[in-house]
Amino acid sequence: MEERVLIAPSILSADFSKLREEVKSVEKAGADWLHVDVMDGLFVPNITIGPLVVASIRPHTKLFFDVHLMINDPIKYVDQFASAGADLITFHAEACNSPMDVIKKIKDNGKKAGISIKPKSPVSLISNLYEEVDLVLVMTVEPGFGGQSFREDCLTKVSEIKKKFAGYIQVDGGINKVVAVKARNARANVLVAGTAVFGREDYAEAIRELRG
Ligand code: DX5
Ligand code: ZN
Repeated sequence: MEERVLIAPSILSADFSKLREEVKSVEKAGADWLHVDVMDGLFVPNITIGPLVVASIRPHTKLFFDVHLMINDPIKYVDQFASAGADLITFHAEACNSPMDVIKKIKDNGKKAGISIKPKSPVSLISNLYEEVDLVLVMTVEPGFGGQSFREDCLTKVSEIKKKFAGYIQVDGGINKVVAVKARNARANVLVAGTAVFGREDYAEAIRELRG
């Protein structure tokens, strides 16, 4: 049976001067989740947004908020993002010493938990956590910036994870309608797309194309 694939537009590529309208448009266009990229300038060489922005868009949409933390020491900020309105909080295995403690903190806040690995990190870094998390995010670009090229080599990790993990398997970075087919074939079931949605005139058409 064909599995339903969720599309999560990343607001990193939205027009921040009209973020409320952008979020409403993408909801109306059929997005399943809203992907929110949080960068601290330390774990990645870029700075984006914090809990204040998440809280300010929260009242304007019913979309599920998928918050991707690309920050060092994520445990420090879990409470703030949870209160701001995150539904799922994903953090990087490379960014902390004790992922179990971070997962526990996310769960204690009543939120879903995700763990992510960068392109160069092996699946073995997270394979002991499958029982604990709702989502595994396999980065398909080096985290830090939108608009980079998809790294196809990362898809072998998706297939490997799928053998042992029944939850959400998300891919993020460089996803367009061409590589979306490959990601779906590797059995990823949540596709993040920044440029491929917000870079288009017609968001609904872009989302339909990614869903396949
Ligand atoms: C990269 C971010 C991605 C990024 C995706 O560090 O995690 O979510 O915004 O943007 P595109 O789809 O343009 O690669
Ligand atoms: Zn992301």
